[in-house]
Parts: sequence; structure tokens; C-alpha cells
Amino acid sequence: MTHDKTTLLDMQSSHVLGTYSPSLMLVKGEGAYVWDIDGNRYLDFAAGISVCNLGHCHPRVTAAIREQAGKLVHVSNLYYNENQPQLATLIAENSFGGRVFFANSGAEANEGLIKFARKWGSAEGRYEIVCMADSFHGRTLATLAATGRSKYRQGFAPDVEGFAFAEFNNLDSVRAKIGPKTVAVLCEPVQGEGGIIPATPEFLAGLRQLCDEQKLLLLFDEVQCGMGRTGTMFAYQNYGIEPDGMSLAKALGNGFPMGAFELQAKYADVLVPGTHASTFGGTPLACAAGIAVFEAFAEEHILENVRTVGAHLQQALAGLCAKYPAVKAVRGAGLMLGLVVEADLKPVLAAAKAKGLLALTAGENVLRLLPPLVITIDQADQAVTILDQSLAEGLVQA
Ligand SMILES: Cc1ncc(COP(=O)(O)O)c(C=O)c1O
Repeated sequence: MTHDKTTLLDMQSSHVLGTYSPSLMLVKGEGAYVWDIDGNRYLDFAAGISVCNLGHCHPRVTAAIREQAGKLVHVSNLYYNENQPQLATLIAENSFGGRVFFANSGAEANEGLIKFARKWGSAEGRYEIVCMADSFHGRTLATLAATGRSKYRQGFAPDVEGFAFAEFNNLDSVRAKIGPKTVAVLCEPVQGEGGIIPATPEFLAGLRQLCDEQKLLLLFDEVQCGMGRTGTMFAYQNYGIEPDGMSLAKALGNGFPMGAFELQAKYADVLVPGTHASTFGGTPLACAAGIAVFEAFAEEHILENVRTVGAHLQQALAGLCAKYPAVKAVRGAGLMLGLVVEADLKPVLAAAKAKGLLALTAGENVLRLLPPLVITIDQADQAVTILDQSLAEGLVQA
């Protein structure tokens, strides 16, 4: 059944809840490019918001999904499947050798981490989690309550209780929030939605020490900054410390929806049969996609590319800071980069889109770039040229 664009847009406005404000209708993707229904091509520096890290329709992932879809799609976790243990092993080998639970999204992965922390602290009546201002952990009720931007919670009261907020990158602020009911500290090693803000090395090392001293769990949300985005497989690996647990999602299936959380092996007995579950978590199909993703990382020099092209892009973006007074800073790590712009970003992003570049915003005034990790130096340069022209046009209009 095919419909023209006007009919599709009518169907959308009549029957899809209007919780988003989409613009282009995208119909095809390959590598760093996507095409809209009118045949226009775009360099995609959003990558599905850090999801298609290997680029669109990566041949290895597409082949794995196709093959598995013809073999076995779903069986439930009442049965073993061949792929789940293999993917769990790949996650463990690429991180801290822990135990993995499979879910379907970032919010669900974080819900699992929160439940784990509460279960672990339940014998002592500890359940409160210290989270960070400007953090983002998802849209379910508990993950909203853990999210450090109150605007997302408006209209959804009462909040799930048990969350306190400290200032990100301020150890004293975290210390001040710890009380007798505190069980864990949760943060993103690089804040994404909050505005591409990397944790300082002192902060994460300090959190690790503080959690050890106070018998608290240190939990990292790697949903956006994980899976190679910052130049190591997981962002925490840039900091020389390990968490007690971390959540993953987004790029784990390169677009095939999946999430997961991993706990250090010493916590393997906290969540026993009957305590946590998910119908679709870790299906043969989802795990086939995840296995193909890790194979691509191992064989296609992806992390090397992130480091090389990321450094090049960061330097080129610094040139825009020097050129435009409204562009105050470039920050981030690897290919998770943000330009701090003191102006309305809407006209800048609209100009970029008209010139064939898709980009994002974050926080109040950050132009966020999350390209596929397979982009070339040439594609990075093309993006910077378009951004340069778009800033020249957009800042004038602003
Ligand atoms: C750091 C972080 N955690 C959690 C989430 C929620 O993930 P999902 O939308 O898959 O539920 C996001 C989504 O943007 C995120 O950036």
C-alpha cells in the first residue's frame, strides 16, 4: 500500500498523537546519509539521536537482522535463546565483566537500575538516589523523577519519591545530598540532553571514592554517551574508574530497539527469578542486531575513527568559535560534540537543514552534533562548511 506525502501527513495528524513536532519525512538511509520522500539527501549529524552509530543500514547489522528474522524472532525469557548469552558476553567483555539484563529502551534500562538499587538497599531501608541537575534519564514515571530538569515533569505529579538532586561536577553538592536513606548516585558520564557536558575526571573519581566510603552504588547512564560515541566503547572508560552498574540502549542495536543494564558480578544475586522481567527483553532478533554491532566495532576500526575524526571536527568547530562572537565554546568528547551558541538556534538549524545537514539542540543553547561514528574527515568538513554558512545566515535572522 503506497500513499502520497499529503495523504500520509493527513493520516499522521488524524491518527498519531501529537507528542512530537516532526519535519522531514525520511524514507531511506545509507551510512551517514538519509533521504526524504521528495528525494533530497541529508548528511545526518543526529543519527537518530545517537542511535545509528554505525551509520544507517549498516550491511552487517542489516544482514544479521534479515537472517535472524527468517529463523526465530521471539521466544520469551521462559526459554534460552542462542543470541542472548553471546551478546551479554560481548557487553561484559567490552566493559567490566558483569551480568546483563536485557530491556527495550533507555528508560526501561534505567528503571531496572533504579529497581536494582532499591532492592539492594531494601534490607537497610535505603532507597534514595542522588541524581544530577540537568540530567536526563527517560520518560517513564521513575526515570522522569530521576531527571534533573523539572520541565519534563510538569503536569505529571505526584513525582515518584526517592530522588534528590545535586549539581553535576560538584562533589560537595553530592556529599551534601547524602543521607541515611541514600542508596546510590546516578549520573551520565557525559550529559547529553542537558547540553553535552562531560564529567570532569576529578568529579567521577571523587564520586567513586565517595560511594565506596559511604557504601553507596555508583550507577552510570551510558544510554547516549555509550557504544563508542566518545571514542571508547563506554564513556566511563575515559576516566579510569568503574561503576557498580550502567544502563545502555540507543546504539546497542544500531536502530533495532533494545536496552540493557549491566551490574558488577558481585551483585548477581540481588535480582533473582521473579524480581524483574520484560517480555521483549533480549529476543533472538534484537540480540542478533546487538552481536553484529559489536562485531562491527571489533573489525571495522570504529573507535579509531571516532578519535581521529572527532579530534578533527572539534578543531574545525573551534574555528567557528573564533569566527562568530555568539558561538561561545565547543565541548564534548569523540563524536559527541556541542557548540554553545548565545542566540536562537532555530534559524541556524533550519538553514543547515535547507543546505542538507541534520543537527540537534541540547540544553538551553547548545547545537548538538551526534554523527554516525563512521563519518569521514571529508563529511566532517562538509558539515562544518554548512554550519559556517548556516550560522552566518541564522545569526543574522536571530
Ligand atoms: C542519557 C539518556 N538516558 C535515557 C534516555 C531515555 O532513552 P529512551 O528514549 O530509549 O527511553 C535518553 C534518551 O535520550 C538519554 O539520552
